[in-house]
Amino acid sequence: MSDSIASLSPPPGLARHWCGGDAFETRFLEAMSLLAPEVERFLIATVRAGLACPGTAPMAAAGLAFVREEAGHSAAHHVFNRQLAAQGVDLDATLAGVRRLSQRMQRWLSPRMGLAVSAAFEHLSAVVSLAYLRSAGRTRIQAPEFDRLFAEHARDEIGHRAVVFDLLQAAGGGGWLTRALVLPAVSLVALLQAARLVAALLAHDRAQAPQPRSRWRWRSAGASLLGMARWSSLPALLQHWWMYLLPGFHPRALPDR
Ligand SMILES: [Fe+2]
Ligand SMILES: [Fe+2]
Repeated sequence: MSDSIASLSPPPGLARHWCGGDAFETRFLEAMSLLAPEVERFLIATVRAGLACPGTAPMAAAGLAFVREEAGHSAAHHVFNRQLAAQGVDLDATLAGVRRLSQRMQRWLSPRMGLAVSAAFEHLSAVVSLAYLRSAGRTRIQAPEFDRLFAEHARDEIGHRAVVFDLLQAAGGGGWLTRALVLPAVSLVALLQAARLVAALLAHDRAQAPQPRSRWRWRSAGASLLGMARWSSLPALLQHWWMYLLPGFHPRALPDR
């Protein structure tokens, strides 16, 4: 991980909607920042458990470097996420659902299944990271600190995209059927949780600056559609996502940038 993101923090006097003055885009990026440490806590726990599986000893060094890198990302995101608490967002209440789900999954899943779920999360992370690095929407971010945080994190995610997958294979998993079942399930859960967080943050905005409901709804829906189009090419996103389901897939097949 680049040391530089460990020393980053949001600039003082940051505008509430620091991405193009747009509520949806800002709240979407903030939801990603809120989700990152929660997902990373799950990844770290499953990789640690996976390293105790027979056959994974050759992956020990890469696995521990992965754990350190993800912990570094979480620390950097926590610093940025505090600006939401300063706006009055109750972070513990907002994240309670994600945390409950993550704890249940850690309790229920075997070490190998935990790695299968983590490998799918890492594939999603790499796909989204690639979209971020290629996105024209980055120029709308008014605080360069936020762009550096997301861009450095994205480069790391692409750099270590194969670690959990290789660990899963060393533990004897990662077959086509598991990949084909787990990736769609993980993607759906991630999408629903991200949508729930965006909705919670937008609801917080509404509570602070009430507007007529119908006007707000139309504006929100329009901003959402525009926001998605600005931040990723849907065909590229789907093509990269789909690669995971191809027979013989390995994460190195994803482009580097
Ligand atoms: Fe990360
Ligand atoms: Fe990662």
